[in-house]
Amino acid sequence: MNVKLYHTAFLAALFTLSANAQVKLDINLQKRGAKISDLHHGIFYEDINHAADGGLYAELVRNRSFEDNDSMPIYWRLLSEETKAELSLVSDDLLNDVQKQALRIGLPEKGEICLANEGFWGINVVRDQNYRLSFWAKAEDFKGKIHASLRDHDGYKIYAQTLVTSKVKGEWTRYTTELRPQANDGVAQLVLTVEGKGSLRLDMVSLFPPTFKGRANGLRPELAQLMADLKPRFMRFPGGCFVEGELINGKLEEFKWKTSLGPIEKRAGHYNTWRYPATNGIGFHEMLQLAEDLGAEPLYVTSVGVWHGGFAPHDSLDWYVQDVLDAIEYANGDASTQYGAMRIANGHPEPFNLRMVEIGNENYQQNVKQQSDHYPERYIQFYRAIKAKYPYVTIVGNVEALGTDTPSWRNEHPVDVVDEHYFRSPRWFIDQYNKYDTYPRDRHKIYVGEYAVTREYGVNGNLNAALGEAVYMLGMEHNGDVVVMNSYAPMFKNENEAKWNPDLIHFDSDKVFVTPSYHVQKLFANYIGDYDLPCVMQNNAFPAEYYAVAYSRGDSLLPAVDPSNYMASRRFRYDGEEVKVYYHFRDTKNYGVWNLGADDNHRYNLELHTNGLASTFAYRYRPLEKGQWYDACIKLDNDTILCYLNGELNHKVALYPKQWVYSAASITADGKTAYLKVVNPSGKPVIVDIDLKGATVKQANLIRLTSQYGTDENSMADKERVKPADMGSLPVNGSNLRLEMPGYALDVIEITL
Ligand code: AHR
Repeated sequence: MNVKLYHTAFLAALFTLSANAQVKLDINLQKRGAKISDLHHGIFYEDINHAADGGLYAELVRNRSFEDNDSMPIYWRLLSEETKAELSLVSDDLLNDVQKQALRIGLPEKGEICLANEGFWGINVVRDQNYRLSFWAKAEDFKGKIHASLRDHDGYKIYAQTLVTSKVKGEWTRYTTELRPQANDGVAQLVLTVEGKGSLRLDMVSLFPPTFKGRANGLRPELAQLMADLKPRFMRFPGGCFVEGELINGKLEEFKWKTSLGPIEKRAGHYNTWRYPATNGIGFHEMLQLAEDLGAEPLYVTSVGVWHGGFAPHDSLDWYVQDVLDAIEYANGDASTQYGAMRIANGHPEPFNLRMVEIGNENYQQNVKQQSDHYPERYIQFYRAIKAKYPYVTIVGNVEALGTDTPSWRNEHPVDVVDEHYFRSPRWFIDQYNKYDTYPRDRHKIYVGEYAVTREYGVNGNLNAALGEAVYMLGMEHNGDVVVMNSYAPMFKNENEAKWNPDLIHFDSDKVFVTPSYHVQKLFANYIGDYDLPCVMQNNAFPAEYYAVAYSRGDSLLPAVDPSNYMASRRFRYDGEEVKVYYHFRDTKNYGVWNLGADDNHRYNLELHTNGLASTFAYRYRPLEKGQWYDACIKLDNDTILCYLNGELNHKVALYPKQWVYSAASITADGKTAYLKVVNPSGKPVIVDIDLKGATVKQANLIRLTSQYGTDENSMADKERVKPADMGSLPVNGSNLRLEMPGYALDVIEITL
């Protein structure tokens, strides 16, 4: 058969298939699958992208204790130069031992200065809302007053003002007041007007708007509410890399929970590994409080003494082991214990019920250069000490987080749950739908503690990314007996300083939007039963399009006689430039390519481009060696693609996804409500005929997340381009429902029985 005829025959076959494109989905409502863990689904909170300071932490003053820079009071400025003023950072005669610097203000002549703080890219003032201002001051020889005001960015418009004190005492004293602005402005500033003569010292200037649940030292309400709306069953904290810390300018910068407690002026900040100062205003206590307020089980991640750029010897970890024991005591201990008493003194008489602890974060890599050192030896010291004192604590261990698709617990030590992390492409997540079907049930459980589509996600995270994650979540839900927990990562991003993309919740000083991935997380967590209902699907082949193709042979492209069976090849000497071997080449927007030396020579990427959009469906984390000769060969064998480099098989994957649509269903323990989730990640509409046997369906309500293109996403300018829509009730015909799904869609059906 020549190429053209072959092509025509394929199209004819495809047309027949499309005309009858009805997927069948059978669910027996009497049959129970596995019990789905009560911990589906959860959240991961880490201070990254200004998630805390300048984000969830409601504090509005930036560099509030003048510690952010050694030589200048950054984020503070004088509004006018009319009065002579001397501003300097001082490190003597401080407020307490924790504070290392204060601001000294000198007015050599009688006059007035306006000292402004710009906040975190602007202070959000809201009309008629109360703002609580506090600061510490100490007069040297200063005689005069301090006023406070909220003003616009230029300092001319005054939204609220008040006299804070007409006398500054000669010892460190805390001054407080309230401000009630008469306008809205997302990028306002706080101004302290110092009027008089002489010198004084200033420290810990703090301004709080109303907070989530009205808590002192609390959280920005709309961000905390978005967390609450996810109905998280657990909350992992405080990181992530945040837990590991880093050696920066010769100093180990790490989160120490004990120094994150109590009054804000007594908390030590540190330099966050995500490269900005952390006040630790959201400290250990606040994180436990947040988990409680969200109705989420707390999961505390402890350092194993391995940080970015170094580690403590694995046989001298007593400090770290004791530190986590003390943390559990703080969370759970009674008044007779040292740290339990401290929690009670800090305002929480009842225990926080910390019952899950993770030992390290990503510290058990195959490649020991990736923040790993003697993980098993470290792990077991923590495990034994925690289980001896707190046998009820579930211990979560680390497994490989980078590079491998099949992470493992490579030692004989007991472990309750192991934490796998995946940051991959939409197609990778789709292909993993069945990943957990074959995981052993008689060993430890699985926690997918961090996952997200981090390739081909657009700018902020598009619908394709969200649907890839959704398919993966279906697989986790269906295997909810072994994958007992999961949490997307990361959660927050301040638009002004992004360290990591994509993230679920984006914000600046006064605006917020969420990504399609956020909607997926919310829909999954809000519509889930207690038992899995196995889904049987038929006629569900991926709607692949077949056409005449060409492939690489050396540097040229040759047409393939049979598009499902051919060999592409290229011999090359690696010179530092990425090398491309083509297969399935139709035109410059539609082709397959094996990229060798991709991503700065970190990986081999196998991609399929459709209408100009890349989809990476296999990776191998391996560099090429400069100057070396390579023989690259791609064999296409009936839609299975095999990629060899110097004879070694690197990828063996299906060219197209295995299925058209993907599903998972669950039912509540009382049998009164079932939930069906169906994802169509392809761009082709599909009809899904559903047969719900074994119970009478009283009502079926459909919620749909979709958009015209898989590349559609949300932004500050277009916050709601992709969002779920309530589609109302579906007609029920006996036990049958018909779902007419558009392309790029997640459908969630709530079924009343
Ligand atoms: O989620 C962002 C980062 O990714 C986390 O800090 C780290 O654990 C992972 O590598």
